[in-house]
Amino acid sequence: MNDQAQRLRELAVDQQLSSPRKETGAGSVRRAKNAPQSISVTSGKGGVGKTNCALFLATAFAAMKKRVLLLDADLGLANVHILMGIAPRKTIADVVAGTCRINEVVTTTPGGFDIIPGASGLEKMAILDRGRLELLQREFRRLETRYDLLLVDTGAGIGTAVTQFASGTDLTLVVITPEPTSLADAYAMVKVLSERTDHPIGIVVNMAVSDREGSEIFDRLNALVVKFLKRSLEHYCTLPQYREVGQYVRKQRLLLLEKSNTVFSRRIYQLAARIAGSGTPVKSGFFDRLVQGMRNK
Ligand SMILES: Nc1ncnc2c1ncn2[C@@H]1O[C@H](COP(=O)(O)OP(=O)(O)OP(=O)(O)O)[C@@H](O)[C@H]1O
Ligand SMILES: [Mg+2]
Repeated sequence: MNDQAQRLRELAVDQQLSSPRKETGAGSVRRAKNAPQSISVTSGKGGVGKTNCALFLATAFAAMKKRVLLLDADLGLANVHILMGIAPRKTIADVVAGTCRINEVVTTTPGGFDIIPGASGLEKMAILDRGRLELLQREFRRLETRYDLLLVDTGAGIGTAVTQFASGTDLTLVVITPEPTSLADAYAMVKVLSERTDHPIGIVVNMAVSDREGSEIFDRLNALVVKFLKRSLEHYCTLPQYREVGQYVRKQRLLLLEKSNTVFSRRIYQLAARIAGSGTPVKSGFFDRLVQGMRNK
């Protein structure tokens, strides 16, 4: 495992050096004091690869020496920890129930990043009373300062529980596949997100048979968004259909740790390097915005 982790770090450093850093706005990336860059991974349609993408990115960022926290915000069917074979003693459900502090839930993973494991049936979180919300907000705010990057894996659908998490981050990655249903659901997601925020939305085309297919699918979605929503999306990455992904899911192991020097992994590093260099200015941390969104509901 140590050798693998070392090779992974070397590859990540190469990637950082060879990728131009994309800056936004006036040319510099400014964020609120101590607030980490936050990225949500969402989709609309279920089963398109959100959780796997979130885990690929978390592993890549960790190999790039970033301090990463991955929040499992799938309030319906949380499974970030399952994909790594981790059985957490406590989950976000215990925090929401008030039986433990947020620090007690943070779990370190073999990928070198931390997770806040999720639990199912957590939609209740949206109706927490004000005092409880404020306590959580303070705890999360303190926790955030320990990290460079916060990744948020959302559930499927375009319901409030999902879109609150997806719109609270600095960047939202919408994962799509070449299936027409995925495209339709992604469009619905982009529409809802655009009503909530004007922050950047990046598209990851997953399970494409070729880069050409990836570009065509992106162009189709973007054309709809430009025409009807009067904004545009960015094509962040195309990931191919790759048999090993399913095999590693079954093994409950992190693919990027063990297959670090493959075409697939290099794509993930390119994606991670692009994201790390493309922050948008933020005025507050993710959890502040999330709680604000819950209050305004
Ligand atoms: N690039 C890929 N190549 C091949 N199979 C893939 C790829 N990405 C994801 N998969 C397969 O798709 C399945 C679903 O992936 P994942 O659980 O990440 O999707 P999800 O969008 O998070 O699903 P849900 O909406 O249920 O949360 C995985 O079990 C994996 O087998
Ligand atoms: Mg998932």
